[in-house]
Formats: sequence, structure tokens, C-alpha cells
Amino acid sequence: MSSFKKHILVTGGAGFIGSHLVRRLVNRYPDYRIVNLDALTYAGNLANLSDVATASNYIFCKADIRDSTALDRVFADYGITHVIHLAAESHVDRSISNPLAFVETNVVGTANLLNAALRFWDSDFADRRFYHVSTDEVYGSLGEEGFFTEETPYDPRSPYSASKAASDHLVRAYFHTYGLPILISNCSNNYGPFQFPEKLIPLMIRNIRLEKPLPVYGDGLYTRDWLWVEDHAAAMDLILHESAPGKTYNIGGNNEWKNIDLVRLLCRIMDEALDRQAGSSEQLITFVKDRPGHDKRYAIDATRIQSELGWEPTVFMEEGLRKTVQWYLDHQQWLDDVTSGAYQSYYEDQYANR
Ligand code: NAD
Ligand code: TYD
Repeated sequence: MSSFKKHILVTGGAGFIGSHLVRRLVNRYPDYRIVNLDALTYAGNLANLSDVATASNYIFCKADIRDSTALDRVFADYGITHVIHLAAESHVDRSISNPLAFVETNVVGTANLLNAALRFWDSDFADRRFYHVSTDEVYGSLGEEGFFTEETPYDPRSPYSASKAASDHLVRAYFHTYGLPILISNCSNNYGPFQFPEKLIPLMIRNIRLEKPLPVYGDGLYTRDWLWVEDHAAAMDLILHESAPGKTYNIGGNNEWKNIDLVRLLCRIMDEALDRQAGSSEQLITFVKDRPGHDKRYAIDATRIQSELGWEPTVFMEEGLRKTVQWYLDHQQWLDDVTSGAYQSYYEDQYANR
């Protein structure tokens, strides 16, 4: 008999958000076993978890959520009691050039994982949870006013957000149809260490350091609500432990920035950090062709998680960005490793015609 109290399967634990969650769970809960299942796509990197790799309550398992046989094996081998599902194709621009990959991983992969949980738990759902980690992008695009609440109707507009919306619907369907004890959260844009440099903030940090053009899409007036990644990990920890099956929570930083203002702030922070003349990095800003179907504004109303679970964001933007910039400057080897090879051709293709 195992002495662990919970056997938690985290999918996508080698990615950006997953690695912060795995680190938190491994360090805070020595009496839980954390099984990190990841296919190690271009976005997954075990170096993100080198500090916990040898912990006695941590196991890494290389597997693909598109492979249902492999999932059955992992549930059985490790006696999984809880799932926190983050594995996904996560970049909107990639979803525009290859939507099917998003359907296969985000929709079919999620269905495979739901089926594996259903088979393995075999209707015994006492102290079981299937927690699906989703995005605010399923709600579509806001105008100048208003916020996404948990009641906002779904209106996804990119292949990425459509695939995440489809997976959310499947997860809720398994709750209503089979009684699977599911949880869902929809979070705003995350930032912090270990984010793959195809996303706005690390891409800009890298380009500023290399004195390359800073590609701002369209007029740069698109708005995102940014959250420090460890605040997201803390929210997921609370939701897993404190909420009843079937619940949905929105998670956001109440921290809206227009892209151009955010890029300008990053330029200022980087000029200071690199001891460059004030204003020099801003010269690199280049307005480029817009993303097709670009969502204008995302903003989360996080009242439910604040009032029911007492969660609050703890790191504010300027402090979080300074920490992020410093982390990337201190981890140039990590950045060089993840941007070698395939990333170079992605970057050339993605930005060639903009
Ligand atoms: P990421 O792209 O950094 O990491 C995704 C991870 O999933 C990688 O480790 C990758 O190897 C793994 N993966 C991909 N396909 C897989 C497959 N078929 N089988 C097994 N593993 C696979 O993504 P992220 O930014 O850390 O996002 C994690 C989750 O959080 C996603 O579900 C995403 O939709 C959601 N989310 C992200 C944000 C954000 O701002 N990044 C905001 C809200 C929600
Ligand atoms: P991104 O980090 O891709 O997150 P998402 O599209 O999921 O919100 O992009 C954040 C915002 O930054 C989005 O409005 C698109 C914009 N953006 C640019 O202007 N230039 C870039 O090179 C990238 C990657 C994004």
C-alpha cells in the first residue's frame, strides 16, 4: 500500500504554467505523489523542473495525451486519484497556421484523458477530481467596457480558443452525463519565468536584448489582463483543494494593459537592466501586419474566486515584469537552448511576411 495521500497526475507539467504548478505541489505536499505526464513537444522542457527532478514524491512520465493506451497505463501504474490537465497546444499564431494539431491535442487528447479517468475510477468518485485548466479566450473578445464572468456565453474566435472551448464543453458533459467530479478554471494571460519565447513578453525581452525589431501586431491597442504565473499556480492549488465538483472559476489579475504600453514599459525596464541609454530600446518597436481575427480585449471578473476561496493576486505588474526580465537575463542558456533549431524556422516563417 502506498503511503501517499493523493496521486496527482499533472499533464503538461514540463510547460510554462505546468512547471510552476508541479514545483509548488512537489514542495508543499510531500505526502502527495505528483506524476508529471508530458509529451515534451517544442514547448515542454524538463530543464524547467531540474530543481525538483529528484524529489521522492515526483515522477516524470513521457507520454502523449493523444495515446489512450498510454493514458490507461499511467492511471493504473500510479493509482491516479486526481488529474490537473494543462497539456495543450497553447499558441494562437500556431493555431492559425495548423488548426488540426489543436483539435488533436486539445479536443481529442482531453477526451482521451476523460475516458481514462472514467475507466480507471469506475464510478467510484469519492475523493477524486478531474481539474481542467482553461483560458479566458473561450469567452471571445470584449469591447472597451465589461468583463468576463463565469456566466459569459462562450464565443471563441481563434482555432486555439475554439479547441479549448470544445474541451471545456466535453469536460462539463462528463460531469452531467457520468457524474465525473470535474473542475474548470478560465485564466487570463500569464507571465513569468520559463515562458516559451513565442509569446509576447519573452519574445520582446529576447528581441530587446538582441536589438532586433519588436513586432507589435496591428495598431498595438489590443488589451490583455496579465497575471503573474505563480499567482495562477496558487489559485489552482486552492481550487483543487477547496471547491465542490462541477464548479468553474475565472482567474485574472485585474491588470489590463494595451500591448503597446506593455512593450514600452518592457523597453524602459530593459534599458535600465542592460545599462542602455533611456529610450534606446523603444526605437526597435515595429508595427507589423495584424493577427487574423485578433481579439480586441480580454478582462476577467475574478469576484467568485476572491469571495468564495479568498484568492488574490500578490505580484503587481512592474515588480513582476522586473523579476521576469531579470530571470531571462540570468538564464540566457535556457533561452538559447529553446530558441535553437526548430524555433528559428518558426520565427522566420511567422514574422517573414509581417
Ligand atoms: P505551454 O505551451 O507552455 O505548455 C504546454 C505543455 O503541454 C508542454 O510541456 C507540452 O510539451 C505539453 N503537451 C503539448 N501537447 C501534448 C500532448 N499531445 N501530450 C502531452 N503533453 C503535451 O502552455 P502553457 O502556457 O503552460 O499553458 C498550459 C495550459 O494553461 C494550457 O492548457 C493553456 O490553454 C492554459 N492557459 C494558458 C494561459 C497562458 O497565458 N499561457 C492562460 C490561461 C490558460
Ligand atoms: P500572446 O502572448 O500570443 O497571447 P494571446 O494571443 O494568447 O493573448 O499575445 C499577447 C498579445 O500580444 C496579443 O494581443 C497579440 C500580441 N502580440 C504582438 O503584438 N506581437 C507578437 O509578436 C506576439 C507574439 C503577440
